[in-house]
Amino acid sequence: MTVQKLGKNMTNVTNNMNKTAGVNTPPAVSLNNAHVRFGDMTALENIDLDVEDGAFLTILGPSGCGKSTLLRLVSDLVPIADGEVTVFGNQVDKARLAREFAFVFQDSTLLPWRTAIENVRLPLEIGTKHAHKRPKAVSEKSAEELLALVGLEGREDALPHELSGGMKQRVAIARALICKPRLLLMDEPFGALDEITRDRLNEQILKIWKETKTTILFVTHSIPEAIFLGQKVLMLEANPGRVREVVDIDLPYPRELPIRETPEFNKISRYLREVLETC
Ligand SMILES: Nc1ncnc2c1ncn2[C@@H]1O[C@H](COP(=O)(O)OP(=O)(O)O)[C@@H](O)[C@H]1O
Ligand SMILES: [Mg+2]
Repeated sequence: MTVQKLGKNMTNVTNNMNKTAGVNTPPAVSLNNAHVRFGDMTALENIDLDVEDGAFLTILGPSGCGKSTLLRLVSDLVPIADGEVTVFGNQVDKARLAREFAFVFQDSTLLPWRTAIENVRLPLEIGTKHAHKRPKAVSEKSAEELLALVGLEGREDALPHELSGGMKQRVAIARALICKPRLLLMDEPFGALDEITRDRLNEQILKIWKETKTTILFVTHSIPEAIFLGQKVLMLEANPGRVREVVDIDLPYPRELPIRETPEFNKISRYLREVLETC
């Protein structure tokens, strides 16, 4: 475990596997001195963060500290008051048009009258006039392949009410992946699920990350989930929302659930709990 204090150089989330000598790719997400305000209230203050292409960053912090606002800033759902935010080197509105990112929320938000596979295909039917702006690499995996990837083979024709909460979240994840986003923004996607379902989906999301090589920003309330998934954990503090620190999770991948019983895991867990109490 390595703890990094404030400062842009220190909040550089790197995925070494994706570093190619001599090739200078822009970060997946770059925030420079970013501020978000709602009226007089400063929701995010002076956020400096670089997330490298292909990285897995988890985000922890007390309720109301600005975790959702951070994801919404990156996806152009809230305006920036000061500073700069770019996604793969572009302004966020351009990234949105190119469909470089996708969002998964706590609620799966499936259309109840469409089957699983029809829900997965939905993004292909929306905003097709900008489809030509997608980079070549962003070709589509078939909806069938994606449902298989999330472990829902054979349930293509099920309606949402016939699926469990965990299955619905899997459909939502498959739907998010249909346009092959280079960046996946996940806001407490498993927060409403029981523990066993959450554990399974945690393993599955790591598999998906490995297979798709997409960059993931994952907000969670759960310290074990943040450690299990992330290469780094970004800890935000509240009032105003600021970066407290970024903690490297030096646990090897592939990670399987028993890693949570190791002394190293517990050490990081204790540390994060202490920090969280002071945020
Ligand atoms: N659209 C909005 N208008 C006004 N205040 C907002 C809005 N969205 C979020 N906030 C406020 O910004 C702060 C951060 O919210 P949020 O990002 O949802 O926190 P978190 O996801 O960490 O729980 C909270 O105080 C919240 O009430
Ligand atoms: Mg939130």
